[in-house]
Amino acid sequence: MGEETEVTLTIDGVEVKARRGASLLEVAKQLGIEIPTLCYHSALTPFGACRLCSVEIMDTRGRKRIVTSCNYPAEEGLVVNTKSESVINVRRKILELLLARCPKAIRIKNLASMYGIKETNLWVEDESEDCILCGLCTRVCSEIIGVSAINFANRGVKRVITTPYNEFSEDCIGCGACATICPTGSRRVRTYTYATLRPLTGPKRDEHIGVYSEIFSAKSPIAGQDGGVVTYLLISGLKKGLFNKVVVVQRIEGYLSDAVIASNVEDIMKASGTKYVRAKIVPKLKELINGGERKIAVVGTPCQARAARRIQQVMQQDHPDLDITIIGLFCYEAFDYGKLKSEVKRLLGVDLDSVEKTQIRRGVFTAIVKGREYSCRVRELENAIEKGCVYCNDFPAYYADVSVGSVGSEDGFSTVVVRTEKGKKLLEEAELTMREARIEEVVRLSALKKERAKKNFAPILKGIYEVRLAGRESGEGTGGYA
Ligand code: SF4
Ligand code: SF4
Ligand code: FES
Repeated sequence: MGEETEVTLTIDGVEVKARRGASLLEVAKQLGIEIPTLCYHSALTPFGACRLCSVEIMDTRGRKRIVTSCNYPAEEGLVVNTKSESVINVRRKILELLLARCPKAIRIKNLASMYGIKETNLWVEDESEDCILCGLCTRVCSEIIGVSAINFANRGVKRVITTPYNEFSEDCIGCGACATICPTGSRRVRTYTYATLRPLTGPKRDEHIGVYSEIFSAKSPIAGQDGGVVTYLLISGLKKGLFNKVVVVQRIEGYLSDAVIASNVEDIMKASGTKYVRAKIVPKLKELINGGERKIAVVGTPCQARAARRIQQVMQQDHPDLDITIIGLFCYEAFDYGKLKSEVKRLLGVDLDSVEKTQIRRGVFTAIVKGREYSCRVRELENAIEKGCVYCNDFPAYYADVSVGSVGSEDGFSTVVVRTEKGKKLLEEAELTMREARIEEVVRLSALKKERAKKNFAPILKGIYEVRLAGRESGEGTGGYA
């Protein structure tokens, strides 16, 4: 550490050298001094919302004041007291207010009891409130996952965490980071996102395949990509009356794709062919439900399958006859249209909008233009990956009724995973040419995707672990992440 980047200060009577600009909280930690926190996480920008990390500082001119240690920088000659009477009083007041806001939150109760507060005499507005407005969920979603699916809304006492317009989130990928990081386990982060879902049940369960009853490789009588299985299942489901409308992704202009509602064979055929970009299916699904449609099919990536399942689980409370058939597509990652267009131009020299077909097989991306193939390794397209995909751990679309993908099958075939009774009905009497699937290939890709998500999640879990550890060492008991 160079002299100009280093400062000397005193914390609880101990002189310490620290990096200029390091927060007082970080410097205290170096000394093994634990300061309670609620809105702080080592991987996120400090927010200074809860004020629980308050400490007393005295500057070189002898002036004393209370500051929040998570965002106050270490300064030359500063004298810091983390346990003075004023500090303890401030923390007690904060905890009493937080207890009045969230009287049932375990972490708040534990922290309050550490400071001798068993109950509050303050007015409790809503016994069931469980959000302390610490902003950890919104920051992890925007700063780390990169999708900003949730945020603060309203001002003053009406301030809440929610999604835009209190609608089911289109941007949420269901990674669960918000629910994991929330110190109070608030229901707010789950209301309009799909961080948590009721699990599916089925005869077989595999860590990497998910719940399923059958898995095989198949080709349909329709000439289409990878055996045209998805197109065939949609057409036969429509004919059998299993659903009346289908939400599919269709190329709108060039390769630019969007979700559309298909009502007949012609519409479905127009949407055939794989597009490796994520389109917004939630508004179309809601449009159909709000318009009174009850038998709907949706085709989408694992995160879209989760969104559809979440919408189904929640909306069935008001519409018990709501019947959504979900066809999930195996997906390692989706691409951002604009970025994919420029990467394809850079790497393959072709205009993405002019491609007839794109395909990913065995790690190779192929674009076909005027019958000619242009290929590159998928990993070369790293810069075009959609935000959030590297935090997603769902390759085979665990929440679909039927999952379909080329992995595990030879050219011209697709691997089909039948998960639910609804999936079985869709496959009943299907005229498919069937073969054994190479399950180990699906397992390998699924495990790889999980491993990537786990690696990327590590800083989030590390920060939570540090807070838990600090809580345990300072006598906070079980911590609040129960
Ligand atoms: S589950 Fe992930 S993407 Fe969805 S709101 Fe939470 S952090 Fe954001
Ligand atoms: S939902 Fe949880 S993480 Fe988000 S602001 Fe409220 S308490 Fe904090
Ligand atoms: S203000 Fe510092 S942890 Fe909340």
